[in-house]
Amino acid sequence: MNKPLTIPDIITSKGDRKLTMLTAYDYPTALLVDKAGIDMILVGDSVAMVVLGHKDTLSVGMDEMIHHTKAVTRAVKRSIVIGDMPFMSYQASVEQAIINAGRFLKQGGAQAVKLEGGAQVLPQIKGIIGAGIPVQGHLGLTPQSAAQLGGFKVQGKTADAAKRLLDDALALADAGCFSIVLEAIPAEIAEIITEKCPVPTIGIGAGINCDGQVLVFHDLVGLFDRFTPKFVKQYINISKEIEGALRTFKQEVEDGKFPTKEHSFSINKDELQKIKS
Ligand code: KIV
Repeated sequence: MNKPLTIPDIITSKGDRKLTMLTAYDYPTALLVDKAGIDMILVGDSVAMVVLGHKDTLSVGMDEMIHHTKAVTRAVKRSIVIGDMPFMSYQASVEQAIINAGRFLKQGGAQAVKLEGGAQVLPQIKGIIGAGIPVQGHLGLTPQSAAQLGGFKVQGKTADAAKRLLDDALALADAGCFSIVLEAIPAEIAEIITEKCPVPTIGIGAGINCDGQVLVFHDLVGLFDRFTPKFVKQYINISKEIEGALRTFKQEVEDGKFPTKEHSFSINKDELQKIKS
């Protein structure tokens, strides 16, 4: 359980056991996620929305992603940490993609990177893998292209679109991606892709038959209140618990009940007398 996982461990898990992946963006969360035995931790560009309060994922940049990745890797002992390449850190050129992917490993301490897209980013994926950096693909609803997709919509709903997803998945696997996230696609299509694809598929809104599942941490624990996609299962509503604790703190301070002696320091009586006299 405590032996650090490797990229080959993830690849050989296919067909053997289900994989788990969650996002984390800071040290205390990463400690919990790692301790819980989650296989992969994604420092997702979703940080822009669930932590930084932006309306989409586009505004987060490389420096912020590296800052969060460093915090996560300081905590993690077992999980694979994957840095999510932010919008415009890889689209413009292969060279830029390799340099930015390298920063996640060299400065952030991550073991791999994830980037969104199929055939159109294949040269970048090949370049990054050629530089010795493991890549996780991301197909289906790719939030960085939401404008082009006409919003946050389920993808692969026609035979043609589903075929393109399958072709992309096979091309990514062929290029050497060690796993592929499938986001918001029909469960039947995810099942076909999972059957045909030689590397693990990690689903989010892609049904039960993927090789693994990923969720955004803040969705799972109820810390993001703006909207909840259909594919999210909230396992706990921690924000209610936190709000309750904060209200109790306020009340106890106002009522003079906190801090008690238990939470206070005291000085030796003789020393105190000297000050008073
Ligand atoms: O940024 C993110 O959190 C993601 C997951 C939804 C896969 O890309």
